[in-house]
Amino acid sequence: MVGPIACRTCHAEAYRIWAEGPHARAAQALAAPQRKQPLCLQCHSRDEERAGQADAQGVSCETCHGGGRYYEPAVVMRDKELAHLFGLADATPQSCRVCHGGESPSLKPFDIGEAMKRIDHWTADRAARKTSASLPGSPKTLLASWLYPR
Ligand code: HEC
Ligand code: HEC
Ligand code: HEC
Ligand code: HEC
Repeated sequence: MVGPIACRTCHAEAYRIWAEGPHARAAQALAAPQRKQPLCLQCHSRDEERAGQADAQGVSCETCHGGGRYYEPAVVMRDKELAHLFGLADATPQSCRVCHGGESPSLKPFDIGEAMKRIDHWTADRAARKTSASLPGSPKTLLASWLYPR
């Protein structure tokens, strides 16, 4: 786990939207003693539970996208196949059910379509990446030179 700040370097828009959303606050919803209870952490701050981290991250980037230690380098991120091999997980609407299922305390039923709109950090992030030239080099060339140095 590298933490959300590491993702912000390249996904500033996704980070900004996540930070203002409900998942970034999920750990703060818990009182201090509850932050030690695996029962609460499994939905409110799973990375903390998994990694035994001191800082509660809430429901972070890596809770949904997989631990980023190996896929976050630019050369890996730019190659989808390699990124998946290195731990990037497919975040799908189905994966929301793990926490927004029958056991969650929500009063209204979970509407996936509406919920996806409320956490949409991808539309803005894709648009920003399209216009940004901050990451030079084609993935295959960089990857090839990295894996097979001359
Ligand atoms: C060094 C820059 C960099 C860092 C750091 C980085 N990313 Fe990326 N990421 C990219 C780039 C560039 C792409 C676009 C790849 C493409 O579409 O060619 C991408 C794509 C993605 C995608 C889409 C992959 C797909 O299947 O289309 C996800 C999800 C993602 N990043 C999540 C993260 C998360 C979570 C972190 C932090 C753990 C992170 N990234 C850190 C540069 C980065
Ligand atoms: C199965 C997953 C799950 C577990 C386990 C769980 N929660 Fe939650 N919790 C949620 C979800 C999802 C929401 C948001 C519900 C909504 O608003 O639709 C939530 C909301 C909350 C809220 C309200 C937050 C706010 O900002 O209004 C509090 C407080 C809370 N939970 C405390 C706890 C405590 C304490 C525990 C452990 C005893 C716990 N939760 C266990 C999923 C869970
Ligand atoms: C609650 C789960 C969840 C959290 C937390 C989360 N994401 Fe996502 N993210 C998703 C889902 C679901 C999608 C896919 C949306 C789609 O393709 O329809 C997505 C899409 C993305 C994409 C675009 C992928 C593409 O195909 O272009 C990037 C980049 C990304 N997330 C980065 C982040 C970063 C960075 C953070 C933390 C600051 C983060 N996400 C937090 C669930 C999450
Ligand atoms: C690891 C558990 C977890 C996963 C996975 C998860 N969530 Fe959440 N979600 C939470 C918790 C916990 C809260 C409550 C945060 C708070 O208010 O303190 C929450 C809150 C929300 C809220 C705000 C609810 C409200 O009524 O205020 C939305 C919307 C939401 N999640 C959408 C999604 C979507 C869409 C996905 C799947 C892409 C997803 N979540 C996946 C744990 C999770």
